[in-house]
Order: sequence, then structure tokens, then C-alpha cells
Amino acid sequence: MKNPSKKMKNSNDMTEATLVLGTAQLGMPYGLNNTRGMPSEDEAFAILDVAHAGGIGVLDTAYAYGTAEDVVGKWLGSRKLGGKVRVISKMKPHVLKDYPDGARAADIVREEVAKSLQRLGLESLDAYLLHSPHYIYISHVVDGLRKIKEEGLVENIGVSIYDETEALHAVEIGMDYVQIPYNVLDRRLHDTDFFKLARKKKVTVFARSPFLQGLLLMEPERIPPHLSHARSLVERFQEIVARHNLSPAEAALIFARTRSRADYVVFGVESLSQLEEDIRSGSMKDDALARELEENFQDTSRGIVNPSLWSKAKR
Ligand SMILES: NC(=O)c1ccc[n+]([C@@H]2O[C@H](COP(=O)([O-])OP(=O)(O)OC[C@H]3O[C@@H](n4cnc5c(N)ncnc54)[C@H](OP(=O)(O)O)[C@@H]3O)[C@@H](O)[C@H]2O)c1
Repeated sequence: MKNPSKKMKNSNDMTEATLVLGTAQLGMPYGLNNTRGMPSEDEAFAILDVAHAGGIGVLDTAYAYGTAEDVVGKWLGSRKLGGKVRVISKMKPHVLKDYPDGARAADIVREEVAKSLQRLGLESLDAYLLHSPHYIYISHVVDGLRKIKEEGLVENIGVSIYDETEALHAVEIGMDYVQIPYNVLDRRLHDTDFFKLARKKKVTVFARSPFLQGLLLMEPERIPPHLSHARSLVERFQEIVARHNLSPAEAALIFARTRSRADYVVFGVESLSQLEEDIRSGSMKDDALARELEENFQDTSRGIVNPSLWSKAKR
């Protein structure tokens, strides 16, 4: 089943980012605040149904998200939506360590994308991203991405980054998609030429983690000790949004959609009620709120904004 794709609009002609549903939560126990484990298959299907009915036409998944690709594949098949939903997946992280002969990297990219296509029950993907961002510097790997695109297995190629330098390099070498972390506390890429260069080279930008994996939405007193240094920031964020009569989730999504300068915002949910709230805020705007948040939160430490630095976080 060919996965639909057309050259997505890029950032110079969009004022507000469009929502993309991330699926890490559907395939493994995930999320800082997650006390329920992962949703059942029925609840995962209900979440995907409501997302689709709510106009979300793109799903972000990955080989590394436990059973997420299988769940999405089964859902697409059962709903006969293989041709109507765009699917972005990501290569298994650190896969090259299993293959000492680096020169085979291009073949490994092809073998890995084939595994994701098989799990998703698709003939092609809208996009295939590197999940280990430093692979963007390995020419054999990048060649492998270009080859699977030429073969029509994927429409777009790219990378999901953690650091600014990886994002800038990805634009420089002409990737189609770059996925960046972005939220009220993490606006590091605004301090670089990334968005200007991405616009110039028609690179499509995806901003993930608008809730900073749920940290921005947690009751401050429930924030675990290893993140206690973030508590005062979360308290201040929630005070400000309360004054604007918004929920933390609504405010965080409004901010990411209207301030990121990205084309898409990739968010995750654990439950149907979370999804319904997030979709509802999908068309909300509050420039006064966004300005106040920008003024109040500057240069947050990397130890807070980069979840892979959260000592005890499960990923
Ligand atoms: N390196 C990468 O490529 C990478 C890294 C991270 C994420 N991603 C992608 O981006 C997607 C989203 O990122 P993310 O999950 O890290 O972060 P996120 O979207 O910032 O946070 C998602 C978490 O926020 C909480 N939440 C969401 N809506 C809520 C609501 N209305 N009310 C209360 N809590 C709510 C849920 O956690 P609780 O219920 O536990 O609070 C949920 O798991 C992932 O699914 C994945 O597809 C990619």
C-alpha cells in the first residue's frame, strides 16, 4: 500500500504549525508523569481514530518505540487508511554498532527501512529520519538515505536532532525534514540561523515535545527529585497560563504552534482525554500569552530542556 505524500508546505508560508501525533506512547511505557503504562490496543486504536477524525493527517513513529510501528500498521490496515495517512518513521538508534564494516552503512539503511515498512504494512513512507542524530555526519549513511528515496521507498529523508549543530548540518546537506525539540523552555534554535536557512532551502521543520515530555503539565509537587531544579519554572509557567484562563496543555500547544516557526508540532498523549484536550487547543491563539512566556523564560539550562540528560528518566 503506497503511503500518500506530497511536498509539504515549508515554514515561509505558514504562520501556525499543524499538529502531528507522536506515537512513542502507543508502543511503550513513556512519559515522565505516566502512572498508567502504555495504552491497550483498543485504546491506542481509539486514540488514532480520534486523531484522524480530528484532522491529524501525519503520524510520527520509530523502530525504537517498542510496538508502536506494529500498532500503527495494524490500525492503518484495519481502517484501510494506508493511502490516507502520512507516516514518518525513524531508523533504529545506534544500529551501526552491530555492523563493524561501516562501508555497508547504505545497505543497512535499506535493510532497516524495510523492517519498518514491513511492520507498518506499507510500501513507502512519507519520511524516514535518522534517530541517532550524529549519523548525519556519516556520508555512507546519508548516501543510504538518498538511495532509498531514489528507490521510492520514502518520499522524504531527514534527521531528528538534539543539538543545534546537527540541525544546521542537516539543512546544509539538503535533508528534506528536520525534527527539533521545541517548547516554552527550549527555544535554543531561535538563537541560530536554523529557521532562516531551513526556509531558504525549503526544509520542512517538525517541532517535538511541546509539553517537554509532560514536565510542563505536571503538578509541581509531583515533579520527581532528580528534576526538582525545574519545579520553580513549572510553577511560574502554570501561574502565567492560569491568569490567561488556559490549561497548561492548551498554553504549551498554543506556544509551540504559534511561536516555533516550525511547519508541524509533534505531540504525544497517553489517553483519549489528553488527545481531545490537545486537539481542541489545536486552533486556539493567544499572542499576549505567547509574548509573556517568551519574556519570562529565557536560556533554560540544557539539563532541564534535554530529556536525555534527565538522570533517571526512562527513554
Ligand atoms: N528523538 C526523537 O526523535 C524524539 C524524542 C522525543 C519525542 N519524539 C516524538 O515526539 C512525540 C511527542 O514527544 P514527547 O512525548 O516527548 O513529548 P510531549 O508531547 O511534550 O509530551 C507528551 C506527554 O505529555 C502528557 N500530556 C499530553 N497531553 C496532555 C494533556 N492534555 N494533559 C495532561 N498531560 C498531557 C503525556 O504524559 P503524561 O500523561 O505522562 O503526563 C504525554 O506522554 C513522541 O511521541 C515521539 O513521536 C521524538
